[in-house]
Amino acid sequence: MSTGPVTITIDGPAGVGKTTLARGLARRLKIAYLDTGAMYRAAAWMLGPSAAEMQEEELAKRLDGMRFTLKGAGPDSCLLLEDRVIGEQVRTEEVGLLASSIAALKVVREYMKKSQQKMGRETSLVAEGRDMGTVVFPDASCKFFLQADAGVRAARRCRQLQEMGREADEQKILEQMRRRDVQDSERAIAPLVPAPDAVNIDTGSLTPEEILDRMAAIFADTGGRE
Ligand code: DC
Repeated sequence: MSTGPVTITIDGPAGVGKTTLARGLARRLKIAYLDTGAMYRAAAWMLGPSAAEMQEEELAKRLDGMRFTLKGAGPDSCLLLEDRVIGEQVRTEEVGLLASSIAALKVVREYMKKSQQKMGRETSLVAEGRDMGTVVFPDASCKFFLQADAGVRAARRCRQLQEMGREADEQKILEQMRRRDVQDSERAIAPLVPAPDAVNIDTGSLTPEEILDRMAAIFADTGGRE
């Protein structure tokens, strides 16, 4: 077994439960958690709605000024942009859609990949996103791909927003999620597809604890440590 940092990848569409499961698995394994969706969301937030029409050079310049880092160690580490915690304001479906649009651009993906791989070289991680197992960490120790029916995912996202005290219209969320699914799965670069060696899990029919037990057992089977 390699003695370098361990990487576990969790990919899947919006609202499938990636964040809860990636955080939970990181906590069980006592390693860091990396939310790469938060990186795309924070970049979209900083760049604003005109980002999707910006020239590559301008985008590259703006991205170069954004530094993402993981502060602290293990499961208590925290993703920062320019020394600031990425706040809840990026967690709307509108910012998600803009993030999904800029995520189709080569210059954006290259920048994020470099940044994510650097963090993966520095520390053991559970990394969640769309292209973790396929593009960013193709040699990860263990890969998961999560799936669930769009209706189940929209209902879950709706509940999460309501728990945060936000208004949420399930039908609108479902439509926005479907648009995002299409954009993320059909883009030319690093589309959302399962890595050939990923373990597929349907999160619609199991509890988070059941899924975490399964993930931890699969990871242990690969020779990993808990
Ligand atoms: O995981 P999320 O819903 O917070 O991600 C927001 C958007 O960011 C998603 O619709 C597509 C993009 N994204 C991506 O293209 N690649 C990743 N690894 C993570 C997110």
